[in-house]
Amino acid sequence: MRIVCIGGGPAGLYFALLMKKNHPEHSITVVERNKPYDTFGWGVVFSDATMAAMVRWDAESAAEIQDAFNHWDDIEVLFKGTRQRTTGHGFVGIGRKKLLNILQRRCEALGVELVFETDSSGDLDYPDADLVIASDGFNSKVRNAYQHVFKPDLAVRPNRYIWLGTNKLFDAFTFDFRKTEHGWFQAHIYKFDENTSTFIIETTEEAYLAHGLDKMEQQASIDFCQDVFCEVLEGQPLMTNARHLRGSAWLNFSRLICGKWSHFNGNSHVVLMGDSAHTAHFAIGSGTKLAIDDAIELTRQFNQHGHNESSIPGVLQEYEDIRRVDVARIQNAARNAMEWFEVVGQRYADRLEPEQFIYSMLTRSQRISHENLRLRDPKWLEGYERWFAAKSGLNVDPDKRAIPPMLTPFTVRGVTLQNRVVVSPMAMYSARDGLIDDFHMVHLGARAMGGAALVFAEMTCVSPDARITPGCLGLWNEEQAAGWKRLADFVHTNTGAKLGVQLGHAGRKGATKLAWEGIDQPLEHDSWPLISASALPYLKESQVPKAMDRADMDRVRDDHVAAARRAAEAGVDWLELHCAHGYLLSSFLSPLTNHRTDEYGGSHANRARFPLEVFEAVRAVWPADKPISVRLSCNDWFDGGNTPADATIYAEMFKQAGADVIDCSSGQVWKEEKPVYGRLFQTPFSDKIRNEVGIPTIAVGAISEADHANSIIAAGRADLCAVARPHLADPSWLLHETAKIGIKSIAWPKQYYSAKSQYENNLARAAQ
Ligand SMILES: Cc1cc2nc3c(=O)[nH]c(=O)nc-3n(C[C@H](O)[C@H](O)[C@H](O)COP(=O)(O)OP(=O)(O)OC[C@H]3O[C@@H](n4cnc5c(N)ncnc54)[C@H](O)[C@@H]3O)c2cc1C
Ligand SMILES: Cc1cc2nc3c(=O)[nH]c(=O)nc-3n(C[C@H](O)[C@H](O)[C@H](O)COP(=O)(O)O)c2cc1C
Repeated sequence: MRIVCIGGGPAGLYFALLMKKNHPEHSITVVERNKPYDTFGWGVVFSDATMAAMVRWDAESAAEIQDAFNHWDDIEVLFKGTRQRTTGHGFVGIGRKKLLNILQRRCEALGVELVFETDSSGDLDYPDADLVIASDGFNSKVRNAYQHVFKPDLAVRPNRYIWLGTNKLFDAFTFDFRKTEHGWFQAHIYKFDENTSTFIIETTEEAYLAHGLDKMEQQASIDFCQDVFCEVLEGQPLMTNARHLRGSAWLNFSRLICGKWSHFNGNSHVVLMGDSAHTAHFAIGSGTKLAIDDAIELTRQFNQHGHNESSIPGVLQEYEDIRRVDVARIQNAARNAMEWFEVVGQRYADRLEPEQFIYSMLTRSQRISHENLRLRDPKWLEGYERWFAAKSGLNVDPDKRAIPPMLTPFTVRGVTLQNRVVVSPMAMYSARDGLIDDFHMVHLGARAMGGAALVFAEMTCVSPDARITPGCLGLWNEEQAAGWKRLADFVHTNTGAKLGVQLGHAGRKGATKLAWEGIDQPLEHDSWPLISASALPYLKESQVPKAMDRADMDRVRDDHVAAARRAAEAGVDWLELHCAHGYLLSSFLSPLTNHRTDEYGGSHANRARFPLEVFEAVRAVWPADKPISVRLSCNDWFDGGNTPADATIYAEMFKQAGADVIDCSSGQVWKEEKPVYGRLFQTPFSDKIRNEVGIPTIAVGAISEADHANSIIAAGRADLCAVARPHLADPSWLLHETAKIGIKSIAWPKQYYSAKSQYENNLARAAQ
């Protein structure tokens, strides 16, 4: 085959050499506009895994690369006058120039034709080629020529960065955070050869503009950066190798995804590879790795399907299908890491203490968890666990195993929770006349004995017409209140848990069948009239609710107050106001369901007016030493609906009104929602609200292991973790999860004590 690679970066060169090595009869040319052995760029980093793949595919170049590598394990963070270091992070760094020189020499040795100083105008320059590789980087001319085919989707990120070097050498991957009068700047620094380190500096657009960096020539920018980072540079200058860039050398990162990766131009097959097909932010340093992995996969596909022209279409399709999955995974992790650096100034740097700040930074991609950190650096993690436990008010015994973050106590007003795990409210649709009966006693009693510090009963309705279904719990009469007292007495007498009530009104989602008889389906018999912010039915077959007037508002507010009083008298410890999931108060907050033109619709303040009225009235009668949390749908997952930014505004309003905790859920407001599910998928909302508003939060949603809860609590992404479905599967979820991570200090109910050590021993035996 005749193959032309346009662009001699890591992608083009590595693919050329692998193909030539596998099939020397191919005619392969790499066209590069730079001079031989001349390139831009400082160091790049690889993971150990990429290096292992390179050893398998071409031991010769891998050996040279490994020789030239700088390997390091430590990460050091400079922050607010502290210098913290952890180990076990395993990276290798190499000069980009060095890497390309090794690949160029290897290509020459194998007989690849390298054509330098030639600026190709695109694939049509090579009509005799069977295959053209568009390895021409992020600004790919080839991709741009076929935009209608490749459908590039570019997201320009808000932060600014400048890529510099220095001769100051660092023995760890170093992050330095500095605050100027206009905001935070961070440097990502790593040594990549005997005398040079990469020094990437990043800041927000606001700080960049406020310092006038947009108007500075490169040298002035460099002088500015030297000043900001003078302490870590210890007098060494910063250097640029992009003198060719005019004006400001500060760039915005652009995330690139392409709808398709290959095309037939009438003569040749054209395929994107490396940065021309996708980009991943330098926060996880994987652009070169992705380019190399692309080259390996395309070669592997030729090896499998045959090195001939007829197999090209199938090869290109398989290559795209396989690489797309891995690229999406890396882009996801890179996105989390990138976003962390984008918001570090506004969210974490001024709020978290240095110890928690570094933990948050290390787990920024959400791919590294608490237990993963333990594998990397057990001593550091134990130290952090002790610090966290002491901060939570525990007496720390240095000779005993540290208490994991999820098992530390948490105090709100006069209520101390014995750990950070909450049984999330879950409707059971099993009540008659809203009464707690034997089912609820057994169901909630079992969960209260299962270790969680706070057990919420299901959404409890403030009036008969506030119910979702005829099976919902209520607190509108004294008989119901007596059931709550019985439950509270059981929980307090027999367990260390606290009992929570979630007060709510179903609004437009009311008068429906029991979940297992048709979720959200309107009742056919014995229905009741519905009210909501606006007269919009939930489903097209649902009842049209009445848009509430002032008299309705007064009644609903007073019903909440009366229910709160009953709960307090029954001895309930914690009250949550349900302002999520499209129910009545949520229907005011979301612009999708609130079309009002009076003072209860329109702006955030107007939409929050009635929910805040209810909140304030409830707060006034709820005992001052007991907490109230507010559950919000932090994302409607639908265009035109609330976003996490809107939820943050509401959280601030509830905080001002006296809310103690925001319970960060999402969705169920709009039937056509498009949620993106996944592990811990709602935790980012909690992280944002907790650290931007400065209010304790509950994270909820797909938190299903001790490792998840520990990671969230330790990083300060939430103060409490609510666990729902896993508690249906296992009432003693926390006791069992704690045993699984080898912690024995949690108390089991005294009646069950004899089972504890057997359970722990069985786990230990299975692990062996
Ligand atoms: C600040 C910063 C830090 C980074 N840090 C890392 C890191 O630590 N680790 C990492 O793995 N990656 C890092 N990267 C990303 C990395 O540089 C790229 O992802 C990687 O080089 C992609 O390889 P490539 O071969 O696809 O493209 P490139 O390396 O961009 O190569 C494309 C080549 O094509 C040539 N070319 C373009 N157009 C033409 C034309 N018309 N004719 C002829 N030649 C042409 C160019 O001169 C260039 O040599 C970083 C990027 C940035 C911006
Ligand atoms: C059966 C069931 C009933 C639920 N009922 C309620 C409820 O009454 N109030 C509420 O706010 N959330 C309710 N939810 C949502 C949960 O509290 C929780 O937010 C959600 O299930 C995500 O957590 P998980 O991934 O741990 O299950 C319910 C969830 C389930 C599975």
